[in-house]
Amino acid sequence: MTIYRARVFDTPQNPFLGGRLRGDADCAIAVDTDGTIVFRGAPDEARRRLPDDDLVDLRDGLLLPGMVDTHVHFPQIRAIGYLGTPLLEWLDQCALPEEARLANTGYAREVASEFVTGLASSGTTTALVFGSHFATAVDALFTEADRVGLRVTSGLVTADRILPEPLLTTPDRAFAEGEALARAWHGTGRLRYAVTPRFSLSSSEALLQSDAALLAALGGAFFTSHINENLAEVAAVADLFPEARDYLDTYDRAGLLQPRAVLAHNVHPTDAELVRLAETGTAVAHCPTSNSTLASGFFPLRRHHAHGVRVALGSDVGAGTGFSLFKEGVQAYFMQQLAPEGGVALSAAHLLHLATSAGADALDLADQIGDLSVGKRFDAIWVRPAPGEPLDIGFRHASGDDDALAKLFALGTPADVATVWVDGRVVTRRDRESGRADR
Ligand code: GUN
Ligand code: ZN
Repeated sequence: MTIYRARVFDTPQNPFLGGRLRGDADCAIAVDTDGTIVFRGAPDEARRRLPDDDLVDLRDGLLLPGMVDTHVHFPQIRAIGYLGTPLLEWLDQCALPEEARLANTGYAREVASEFVTGLASSGTTTALVFGSHFATAVDALFTEADRVGLRVTSGLVTADRILPEPLLTTPDRAFAEGEALARAWHGTGRLRYAVTPRFSLSSSEALLQSDAALLAALGGAFFTSHINENLAEVAAVADLFPEARDYLDTYDRAGLLQPRAVLAHNVHPTDAELVRLAETGTAVAHCPTSNSTLASGFFPLRRHHAHGVRVALGSDVGAGTGFSLFKEGVQAYFMQQLAPEGGVALSAAHLLHLATSAGADALDLADQIGDLSVGKRFDAIWVRPAPGEPLDIGFRHASGDDDALAKLFALGTPADVATVWVDGRVVTRRDRESGRADR
């Protein structure tokens, strides 16, 4: 057993439904050897109950639940920062040429290591990861995530039209390769499989049907893809699927929608699509820096909530500009402030919820992670800015918990994430002198 003593923030009660930030100024959290939180309360009481257990003093910082990224592309870490093009041009000029390089397994292994390090050192403990078009590269990602210990759901990305030829597959090959990967990794440790057509634009109906057949065959796997990101994309999908009622229907007709499904973006949905997302329990990954970089548009958060559609945050690296969900949170806030049709006024508690408990819910892990309550797994991050940095000054002069949390979203970066735990085990710890995140 280990007892952590810290100032703790989390959102066990949904702030979109009237809940408030839970801020505990001086809290003890006891974690058993398998990573379960078994006690949370006053430090004195923790000591009385557990007199002989190790106590780790984290009062010089802030303890939060691990961040949950519901949409991030493994092959795109080296593509971050390409500015000035909308989605379809960005795919052609930037993302897809880089993705083609992952055909080389040595290259894919290097990228997998950089990617998993990027997630962990930013405080992301759980992620739904868009994999690669190459099975060997997806295997490299699962291998690295397993070694480091992150909670990762991912799979083979499938496409059979429109993309460059090396990225294409066939329905039969997609099924066979996906099934082999899922057999190797789905349910291994903290890893799960996600059936992942890139988007309807690069999928024949036969490919989507093969993806749905694999999803049905696996049991407990996820479906993830993109939807309604860009107006040119939406128009092209309508041309390619004349029988479909709308973009969502291209996935729905194949039988892919279910509660274990996450669609990224949905910047331009119809009301009928929002109704159907809610009916099927499909969640949406909102990716604010990507929506800004690619000028995709303003995410209609109010309409999603009005229809009862679950929304969480995604970094969408590499159209997104980095792994930090602090940055995604503050960018979500900016865009809601500026939304021409009237956005939601997001508080810091909303941002923490979107980055943690909402993500846990979207990934069907709400019974295990998302906050730091008794019974949950100890997936946590310790934020401790260097003395004298603006965030350190902000923490010391904040007027209260909500103000301190707002300062974290405004100023926090991966450099402020000092220690990251998954299931009670340290997955990365930043060396204060060098600033490096080590595993
Ligand atoms: N739609 C299809 N592929 C992609 C991708 O890699 N990134 C984004 N943002 N949208 C996509
Ligand atoms: Zn994406």
